[in-house]
Amino acid sequence: MDVTIIGCGYVGLVTGVCLAHTGHTVRGVEKDAKKLKMLLSGECPIFEPGLHDLLRETQQSGQITFTDNVKSAVKDAEVVYLCVGTPPKADGTVDMSFLEGAGKEVCDALAELNTEFLTTIVVKSTVPAGTNRKLHNFLKQQTKANVAVVSNPEFLKEGTAVADCLRPDRIVIGGESPEAFRMMRRLYDTLVEQEENFITMNWESAELTKYAANSMLAARISFMNEMTILCEHYGADVEDIRKGIGSDSRIGPAFLRAGCGYGGSCFPKDVAAMEHISKHAGYDNLFVNAIQTVNKNQKKRFVDKIQEKLGRPIKDATIAVWGLAFKADTDDIRESSAIDVITYLLERGASVKAHDYKGMDNMKQLFGDKVEWCADPVTAAAGADAVALCTDWPQYTTLPFRKISATMNMPIIFDGRNCLNRDVMRENGFQYYPIGRPPVEQHLRLKQRV
Ligand code: UGA
Repeated sequence: MDVTIIGCGYVGLVTGVCLAHTGHTVRGVEKDAKKLKMLLSGECPIFEPGLHDLLRETQQSGQITFTDNVKSAVKDAEVVYLCVGTPPKADGTVDMSFLEGAGKEVCDALAELNTEFLTTIVVKSTVPAGTNRKLHNFLKQQTKANVAVVSNPEFLKEGTAVADCLRPDRIVIGGESPEAFRMMRRLYDTLVEQEENFITMNWESAELTKYAANSMLAARISFMNEMTILCEHYGADVEDIRKGIGSDSRIGPAFLRAGCGYGGSCFPKDVAAMEHISKHAGYDNLFVNAIQTVNKNQKKRFVDKIQEKLGRPIKDATIAVWGLAFKADTDDIRESSAIDVITYLLERGASVKAHDYKGMDNMKQLFGDKVEWCADPVTAAAGADAVALCTDWPQYTTLPFRKISATMNMPIIFDGRNCLNRDVMRENGFQYYPIGRPPVEQHLRLKQRV
């Protein structure tokens, strides 16, 4: 099918490239001259594993092309994705101006072409219930184009976006035009493995499905994070509990990993939005309030534990923070737990040395010279009184721990992601404090600070 993507940011580009890969003819519209130049020369403006190769492949085969001209891009389009920003306004409602502006530009171009065929306009943005209906009514009033708006919430994860897009668990389409539903079913034909995974509903249900999915996932994590308090009190192991409950097919194993809190550009924002849309509906959503409170506490509890177990005053201690990105395989630090952890450490008078495999430049913009930035984790740990691991980069699990232990001022590791091996920690002489799991506490080879 002929597809146009308006806005080649993160979601737009991943969607466009994946649709091109499945055989559709895709035209991406990008108004930012710098980004467009990069795309035209085959460069990928964002870091996402697998995306660059797929972009090059689909561009070389001619399945995807890029332009800044909406009119030429929508000429043959059957489906047009609006992948533009939908930032929240100060009062918590969504700023519709980009969506309406892009939608109107598309519809005006279609009206001029005078085609009698239906064009489906797809909104992938996470937007409050009622937004797609408003956009639909706005476009119907403002233009003569024969269009139907559908909501198609995005469920892909940063770091695995290409795989998530090519092998989705389900595809949700909200709207009220049966013809548009049929077009979307045809568009996603190669991605729909079982018919029940293609789910159609009204706009509001699709919009709320997205918030419900992210809030449910955030709730699972917060539930397990709250369990770590009980585990630490009673000497239980949260990893055993994760396996014990995750093997119940009614519960399932995903998103039950405890740690020093969730972050990213989605969970914190969407759970907060649930709180807001609940208030708007006239009630206080106790459940989403609890998810947020637990997540905030979890980050603080991590630093409280560092302070308690350090064996010396935190003021004047040096802590090496390993991991700044909100999760592994991304340079994204938005709402990352490391931000709170570093802030608390600095507030309490500690010196911070930090390392990350991709997120360091972004974090530098936040903390500047308040933090010592280290090129590798071994350098960060050298001379430190403890390591606080905040992101589960797999590289951290295979470091030369014997050397690290020997060069730290005190060999103590606080594992905020439960990703290190406790036997390796013990054998290399560390005090090891995971979250919600029994610690390794052994005689410390205490060194005198010079
Ligand atoms: C999340 C959702 O997982 C996607 O389905 C959704 O499409 C996306 O938001 C979005 O709304 O755009 P993402 O934010 O990329 O994806 O990252 P996740 O892999 O979900 O991780 C979010 C946070 O939860 C990270 O800080 C991660 O460390 C944490 N997490 C995840 C845990 O603490 N425990 C877990 O078991 C899983």
